[in-house]
Amino acid sequence: MNPYNAISEDVKLGQNVRLSKFINLYGCEVGDETKIGAFVEIQKNASVGKSCKISSHSFICEGVVIEDNVFIGHGVTFTNDSYPRATTAGGALQTESDWKVERTLVRKGASIGSGATILPNTCIGENAIVGAGSVVTKDVLANSVVAGNPAKFIRYIEEPTATASAPAPIPFLDLITPHRELEKELSLAFRQSLDTASFIGGPTVEGFEKDFAAFCEVDHSVAVSSGTDALRFALMACGIQPGDVVLTVPNTFIATTEAISQAQALPEFIDVDEQTYNLSPTLLQSYLEQQCVRDQDGRLLSLRSGRPVTAVIPVHLYGQMADMDPILDLANEYGLTVIEDACQAHGAQYFSKNQNRWIKAGSMGRAAAFSFYPGKNLGACGEGGSVTTNDAGIAKQVRMLRDHGQTKKYYHDMEGYNGRLDSIQAGILRVKLAHLERWNAERRERAATYNSLLADNLALQLPHEPSWSRAVYHLYVVRTTDRDALIQYLNMAQIGTGIHYPIPLHLQKAYNFLNYTVGDFPVSERLAAEILSLPLFPHISESQLERVANEVLASTSSSSRKAPEGPNAPLVSAGSTV
Ligand SMILES: Cc1ncc(COP(=O)(O)O)c(C=O)c1O
Repeated sequence: MNPYNAISEDVKLGQNVRLSKFINLYGCEVGDETKIGAFVEIQKNASVGKSCKISSHSFICEGVVIEDNVFIGHGVTFTNDSYPRATTAGGALQTESDWKVERTLVRKGASIGSGATILPNTCIGENAIVGAGSVVTKDVLANSVVAGNPAKFIRYIEEPTATASAPAPIPFLDLITPHRELEKELSLAFRQSLDTASFIGGPTVEGFEKDFAAFCEVDHSVAVSSGTDALRFALMACGIQPGDVVLTVPNTFIATTEAISQAQALPEFIDVDEQTYNLSPTLLQSYLEQQCVRDQDGRLLSLRSGRPVTAVIPVHLYGQMADMDPILDLANEYGLTVIEDACQAHGAQYFSKNQNRWIKAGSMGRAAAFSFYPGKNLGACGEGGSVTTNDAGIAKQVRMLRDHGQTKKYYHDMEGYNGRLDSIQAGILRVKLAHLERWNAERRERAATYNSLLADNLALQLPHEPSWSRAVYHLYVVRTTDRDALIQYLNMAQIGTGIHYPIPLHLQKAYNFLNYTVGDFPVSERLAAEILSLPLFPHISESQLERVANEVLASTSSSSRKAPEGPNAPLVSAGSTV
């Protein structure tokens, strides 16, 4: 034993532990193959696992448990008392019985940089990395990188470390990284609102409206409080009357039909196309020809409800365009108002043969609705939405509807709603809008990578992008008849997935009153049973895409694979409105 070391007899040293000089160990345990640098102290009831590296001058106090394969840099300090005092209330020096040790756990494979301080009652997750000089005040997620004082989440680790036993989880959606990237600009936008006390309306909202109108290539964008309100206001401003029938698809988020009901109209469904998953123009045509009649005034009536059919809402779901030329032609022929639900399609483009040019989503109908829900391609840090239109009258009407029906303060031409976008969100959206083209291009590239990695798999149907569509891949949705097994498999591999959406709207309880039944819309019903959204967001890395694709391929080629066991929390987010 090295004569410079103080190692008490109660220390349990494993096989082949390598010790430098000037080490002080008592009452602790050290696992096999671990290396301990000079001037390290490890106190009683602390334990260090196998194959760890504890660098010089680190202090590991009572109550600290360090699992296997952990790296501790130089001068790392652990603590075990949140409120240390030298003396008791009576003034005597404290003894051991005067305080209770608070514990700290460092899970296997983690690394703690030099000079870090770890406060007690914390757990540093498996394979996590704590930056040098950080002060850890709360639990650190497995496979994450934290830094600073107090240590904050920076990102997940993409590549598993050499010592890692499990690869890093892949979230379904990463909303943290883009906000970190833009933190300075976003904070500035927030500060501007604080400095000017401009919270509702004003130049920031107007500026964003101008920018978003230019982005969508329309004359007007009216910012509102959500995509749902955008749809409702668009319907009302377009003159849809209480009791009118508005046509849409069963394969969409419920907000589409909620808005129809909120405008006091009645939804009726047309099934989607088997390839695009969006409104089928062929089925729209058969509906108009076979399920409607004209009354003596020439109004188009639904045979199902006897109500006048006045509008149709094609939804550009998942960022894929609905086939707009034939839809617009039919609408024209039958006198229907077209309102686009572009809530998932900021920047998507359609090649119109009628106009012989590419046209942006949100600029083709009489009006369109966008959502700025945080997970959308353009998302606020809260709620938001916009109505876009080339019709100045509709824009004016929506401006009134969103603001209590007033034309100027306290002059109300009608009753309206409180449906404005606040100016903090407008400022944030304006910052983000400048990055939307790039993010959309990145989404398209990531989707192309998935397409090529998953191409040869017969068990999977990949997203179909017709030649007339430039999708923006709000979601990357695959289709498989063995979806549950795939979800379980990806769950086990810590890969997040979603189902958009698990129950077609005509079969939702909320629409029992419409009296649809199973079998009414077979394509939407099959989709609901087979679709699965894989992780896709601008910041997902090549290696993450490869891992997802490999796991998908492994799952779909191993139908005999066992169902997962153990405590993996489900990562599937059925029906979330990302
Ligand atoms: C297709 C579709 N329509 C409408 C909405 C409603 O948007 P919001 O959540 O902003 O009200 C959403 C978003 O959730 C959507 O995905």
